[in-house]
Amino acid sequence: MSKYIYIDKKIPPYKKTIEVSSDKSLSIRTVLLASQAIGVSKISNLLDSEDVLNALKTIKKLGINYKKKKNFYEIYGHGLNSFSQKKNIILNAGNSGTLARLILGLLVKCKNKVKLIGDKSLSKRDFLRITKPLKLFGVNIKSNKNQLPVEIQGSEFLTPINYFENLGSAQCKSSVMLAALNVPGITKIVAKKSRNHTELLFKYLKIPIKIRSTNNFDIIEVNGLNQFKSFDYEIPGDISSSAFFIVLTLLSQNSQITIKRVNINDSRIGIIKILNKMNSKIFLKNKKNYKGEKVADILVKSSNNLKPIDCPAKLNSAAIDEFLVIFLVAAKSNGISKFRNLSELNEKESPRLDIAIRFLQMIGIKVKKNKYNIKIYGNPKLSLSGKYQIKKFLKDHRVFMMSCVAAVTFGGKWKIYDKDSIKTSFPKFLTILKNLGASINWKKEKIL
Ligand code: S3P
Repeated sequence: MSKYIYIDKKIPPYKKTIEVSSDKSLSIRTVLLASQAIGVSKISNLLDSEDVLNALKTIKKLGINYKKKKNFYEIYGHGLNSFSQKKNIILNAGNSGTLARLILGLLVKCKNKVKLIGDKSLSKRDFLRITKPLKLFGVNIKSNKNQLPVEIQGSEFLTPINYFENLGSAQCKSSVMLAALNVPGITKIVAKKSRNHTELLFKYLKIPIKIRSTNNFDIIEVNGLNQFKSFDYEIPGDISSSAFFIVLTLLSQNSQITIKRVNINDSRIGIIKILNKMNSKIFLKNKKNYKGEKVADILVKSSNNLKPIDCPAKLNSAAIDEFLVIFLVAAKSNGISKFRNLSELNEKESPRLDIAIRFLQMIGIKVKKNKYNIKIYGNPKLSLSGKYQIKKFLKDHRVFMMSCVAAVTFGGKWKIYDKDSIKTSFPKFLTILKNLGASINWKKEKIL
């Protein structure tokens, strides 16, 4: 049996307050850092999803215990490089690029060989971006033609490195930063700007770190071999999960939504900057600082007069996981939107740039592609009545959720496969969508 959801109605107007799932980047990072801290860390509101569960299973396999209490997780850390050194360990990162890439950074000193594997989607993604810098520290690391499985054998004789990270990948930057924790001396990374949660957590944990910023780069210095203490942390809501409801509301009629306590780190809110330039109505309320991060409630109102955007590439990294839904707004705007240098979009759980183009063309939107630059010819009258099918082979949670948003706002009759993909990042997605009034039907069909 294969499962899909069937949608054939637009969502009626709503005015609601919701909470989305907790931030995935912060959930994985706090689990990994707690595994290196000395003492018991308490993480509340940890994202309850497969990617984070895989992070917990991973540290457990490396000898770090944790307990799920009623409202929080306790993680029992024993300090830097305290992973147990059993032979022939195989770690499975599942679908999570963040877990896979960051855990490799923490394994630079492991005594025995560790093998890292992942699911089909993760096994197609690039690991050269990690093996290349980690090798420079003096680690033995090899991949399968730059993909998983990766085998790592740590070293006692690590030397600090100077690394130039030019992809704008927070996963790559963070992997090097985590490796630097176990390396004597100062590791320096010149990194194209990307989300800076790891830097903020290092500062909060008083791990010696210096950061200077230029227009496009952050110059980060981490001083290794400094133990740090366990910590308490409450994970805020995820802006990437909020993105689906922000765009849902913008594209719905006479609707309004408030999304409570969302992380609004400046390196993550590209979507808000881009959509506000497109004449949308998004407001940040109750702004607060929390342990170096910023949180706020996000208020969104339906917008009927959406404008196209010539999107500055500088905002790409801060909106990297949100482009699929940003493109839906471009499809409904009154002109031609331009987006540039989106090669990294094709490095995600699926080749999202290619998929987005096929998707937009499927719903009748003209798109022109030149290398990794695209032009989307918006149509403010866009309203669908045909039949559409999003196949199961994509297996990308964000493609699934974006398709649902398109279906309940643009109309048409939709069969959307692969509902289980949302378990990786946002298991509550369909429940929230239904509570807002969307009519969603679960169906099963025999596979022939
Ligand atoms: C993430 C960084 C981004 C993002 C991913 C999560 C992170 O990937 O797409 O969903 O938590 O560091 P890249 O670092 O590959 O750009």
